[in-house]
Amino acid sequence: MTKTVTVFGATGTAGAACVDELIRQQTFDVRVLVRKGGQQEKASSGVVRGEYEKQRLYDRWRAGGVGILTADVTDHAELIPALRGTDYLVSCVPYSATESQYPLIWAAREAGVERFVPSEFGYIYEWEQFWPTDTAHRRMARQKAFIRRVIELAGLDYTIIPAGLWPEYYMVEPVVVPGDGTRKYAWSTGTDVGRIIPHVLAHPASRNAVCPVAATAYCSWNDLLAVREGLLGRKVERVYLDVDQLRASYAQTPEGPGQTLLGIAVAGAESPEGMPLWANWNGAFLPGFRGTPLDELFPRVIEPFVAATLAAMTAAGA
Ligand SMILES: NC(=O)c1ccc[n+]([C@@H]2O[C@H](COP(=O)([O-])OP(=O)(O)OC[C@H]3O[C@@H](n4cnc5c(N)ncnc54)[C@H](OP(=O)(O)O)[C@@H]3O)[C@@H](O)[C@H]2O)c1
Repeated sequence: MTKTVTVFGATGTAGAACVDELIRQQTFDVRVLVRKGGQQEKASSGVVRGEYEKQRLYDRWRAGGVGILTADVTDHAELIPALRGTDYLVSCVPYSATESQYPLIWAAREAGVERFVPSEFGYIYEWEQFWPTDTAHRRMARQKAFIRRVIELAGLDYTIIPAGLWPEYYMVEPVVVPGDGTRKYAWSTGTDVGRIIPHVLAHPASRNAVCPVAATAYCSWNDLLAVREGLLGRKVERVYLDVDQLRASYAQTPEGPGQTLLGIAVAGAESPEGMPLWANWNGAFLPGFRGTPLDELFPRVIEPFVAATLAAMTAAGA
């Protein structure tokens, strides 16, 4: 029987790409859970999607056969009936709304949902939570790892999808490169994260498993920056920092997005040999999956994202 997938945080970057891919893939019946409102609107990038844009997505998805359900997502009395009939519940909420998943887990259990896919899509938080340096990022990693425990406690199956680094977030110059830049990392641009979720879910090896994907590319920082230089036709400014320099830089940087990115770099650089916080699961299990080619991704997504970030920094006087 066809399984039903419901997406929460559907109008976000990963969420919208996930819904679009679910429609294209036609493996699952698809639903979207819409928040009734009244909550603070959040976004990973800081840029929130407006109501008009969301309505346009709902209209397009409805036309693609998606069921749109609205509920007060803080209230189990409304959530439980909204989730009945869902087999896999996929959450794509931004990191700043991680806690919004707690009522969902309880309601999913009561509604008979089989599997919960929490909003992860970064490092392997299960490991990062125990890394030595206490940063804002490690605190988030600890909460995401805790959420997995709550899912297990609720008796639900889970699929954890670490996706490495979203390259668009790390390309403001001078680019901070952890170590000497030769180690391979997993790179997954936000839309490729969303696109790969239905493929991971459709694979039998994803049940109660951690599936760390490299949805866009599996390559070193130096390799990625070489592609960017080739496309820009100029040198990309960068600084190579070892783990001690990254820790010092983190300690000197005021709280905010810049400090969070440095916390991510600290965690990446602290990974012991043979125990990285990312991997290329799709290389082994989804060999047919293709991420966005880098020569298309840089001009279409990454450079505009970098330009918007710089404009926001200028406006904030950073
Ligand atoms: N590794 C990396 O480099 C990296 C980078 C970025 C993000 N990530 C991770 O990827 C995941 C998804 O991030 P994203 O950037 O795709 O998300 P996003 O685009 O920021 O998500 C925005 C959407 O979240 C929902 N939302 C807004 N406020 C909310 C609230 N108060 N409570 C619950 N939901 C709310 C809204 O969708 P609806 O109105 O449809 O509910 C909104 O359109 C996060 O876990 C994040 O940590 C990783």
